[in-house]
Amino acid sequence: MAQVVAIIGTTGIQGSSVLCALCETGKYNLVAITRNTSSEPAKVSKQRYPDVEFAEANTDETESLKKAFKNVEIVYGVAQLFDPEVLAKALAGDLDTEYKQGKNTIDVAIAAGIDKIIYSSLPSIKEIFGGKYSGVLYFEGKYKVEQYLWSKASKIRGAIVQVGCYVEDFVGFSGFSSEDNKTAEFISPVASSTKLPLVDAAKDTGGAVAYILDHFDNFVGKPFKVNGGYYSMQEAVKTFRKATGKPARYVHKITPFVQSGEEIQQMYNSFAEFGYYGGKIDFFGVNKKMDYKYTTPIEFWTNHGWTGPS
Ligand SMILES: NC(=O)c1ccc[n+]([C@@H]2O[C@H](COP(=O)([O-])OP(=O)(O)OC[C@H]3O[C@@H](n4cnc5c(N)ncnc54)[C@H](OP(=O)(O)O)[C@@H]3O)[C@@H](O)[C@H]2O)c1
Repeated sequence: MAQVVAIIGTTGIQGSSVLCALCETGKYNLVAITRNTSSEPAKVSKQRYPDVEFAEANTDETESLKKAFKNVEIVYGVAQLFDPEVLAKALAGDLDTEYKQGKNTIDVAIAAGIDKIIYSSLPSIKEIFGGKYSGVLYFEGKYKVEQYLWSKASKIRGAIVQVGCYVEDFVGFSGFSSEDNKTAEFISPVASSTKLPLVDAAKDTGGAVAYILDHFDNFVGKPFKVNGGYYSMQEAVKTFRKATGKPARYVHKITPFVQSGEEIQQMYNSFAEFGYYGGKIDFFGVNKKMDYKYTTPIEFWTNHGWTGPS
């Protein structure tokens, strides 16, 4: 019998990627979780995946998770601090909001007798950089969930994915040059030579998760970095020019978004100084052994047909 996988966040980037990739394998029965099965994104997803069961659950509410995890054998868990409801709680002072959601997911999965969980985490900036940075909430909260998962190793087999920098975000911070109104400008607060692990999160999160499920024993108890390589900002823009034939340049600039928060500044400063995973390149070795091919930035522009800021 096909194993039943429940996927949290299926109307979002990572969850929808996992839903798509696992559907394509044809190996699993899937339960797509959303807080509202009647929302527009959920309706679109239901139309796209008519054979998938959709269930409502909120990771803040354990009772709803209990219902959604009934008969489930594997869970994909993710949280989003920038969701308006979640952010409101954090801004009201509950800095453990994201951690509690991850803990709820793990606790309910264990109580339901679920065998495997893959949880989306991020490394601790505070730990990697020896306390130089006091921490960035949406990294530290996830890392705390990761530590909690390892503490429950005797009760559930856990694997962690740490997704790299979304190329999607690179697109988000772009616009046309005010000089000629046609040169695309990619704007970020790190130097043009800074290398980041860019990933097509909407495609490769799912690809990596499908691979992990096929080789689960190899991934239990350790974080797995989801990205194919490091790319400098300059290189990423070059690939855009190559894929589209359009003029583009990189602009190293501290944007108002970055100025808006000490944490965002810490995040970019730490990337610029030490790299996203503290500059670690251990994932190259793991990727080499995998028969999974990550999307390169040039493939990203080509696949998405994105030809410039709108
Ligand atoms: N941007 C980057 O470069 C980057 C890199 C690595 C990791 N990340 C992290 O990746 C995580 C997930 O990102 P994403 O891109 O998939 O986010 P997203 O596109 O915003 O999707 C988040 C999903 O979570 C669901 N959700 C939100 N609150 C929920 C709750 N309380 N209970 C149940 N479901 C809830 C939402 O679905 P409904 O509204 O349908 O319930 C939505 O589908 C974020 O924490 C982000 O920090 C980002």
